[in-house]
Amino acid sequence: MQKNLTIKEIDEVVAAILSKTEVKPRIGMVLGSGLSHFAESVENAISIPFGDLPHWPVSTVKGHAGKLIIGQLQGQDVFVMQGRIHFYEGYTMSQVTLPVRVMQRMGVEIMIVTNAAGGIADEHQPGDVMLITDHINFPGLIGNSPLHGPNLDDFGPRFPDMTQAYDPELLDLARKIAKEEGVPIHEGVYMGLSGPSFETPAELRFLKMIGADTVGMSTVTEVSVARHGGTRVLGLSGISNKAHTELSFVASHEDVLEAGKQIVPKMETIIRGVLRSL
Ligand code: HPA
Repeated sequence: MQKNLTIKEIDEVVAAILSKTEVKPRIGMVLGSGLSHFAESVENAISIPFGDLPHWPVSTVKGHAGKLIIGQLQGQDVFVMQGRIHFYEGYTMSQVTLPVRVMQRMGVEIMIVTNAAGGIADEHQPGDVMLITDHINFPGLIGNSPLHGPNLDDFGPRFPDMTQAYDPELLDLARKIAKEEGVPIHEGVYMGLSGPSFETPAELRFLKMIGADTVGMSTVTEVSVARHGGTRVLGLSGISNKAHTELSFVASHEDVLEAGKQIVPKMETIIRGVLRSL
């Protein structure tokens, strides 16, 4: 069995952070690929490279800056992960979700997660944004859950409820902001896979059949741990490419970058609006 991080180790990380700041944010944010520059607008920020924290895994993916930033955004104290850790990098699920545990020990009550995803639903186009209403934790379903192993009773129960993984009130708030600000949004189910290979056309047909609207390689593990510890979650997918079920379609890197340019302002508008209203 894989070795999970203990509460003592989690608290060592918390102590290292609290040696650098007295801010105890109520809101945590995990900014996926493309959105990491948003973290630069945090005010009164302290910035800690992941490598400076004990036990903290270091992200190895290009485009994931790998810094923890604590400060204020839209008047709220925030704990921002500029870049995230993925399971495909070789870390354990417990390491991948350490930042969420640290947020919880520091008092974070709400976590906003973003990701880049492939659009499976027919109406999804690169550059679109989807509010995540539910997810399928595929690695978790087949035995790779971050909650595998002895339960951490200090955080939550052995068998946590997942019926409201994405908080209904936060979803309503995000819908309201999107409408007011004129940001078009989709809503749907995010499919979390382990990666790192993209999906075959047959896999995509299967994912579509079981109800997935977007597909990516993150988020679901973080959200499982967030909900285990009672943290409320708002999740947003940016559609970087269409996940095609036909053979011979490959999104170019240029297409993905172009989609990112359209996604970033939409996500920023929604997130800033939500932060202002919380
Ligand atoms: N599949 C899986 N993960 C992804 C994709 C995709 O098409 N696009 C961005 N992340």
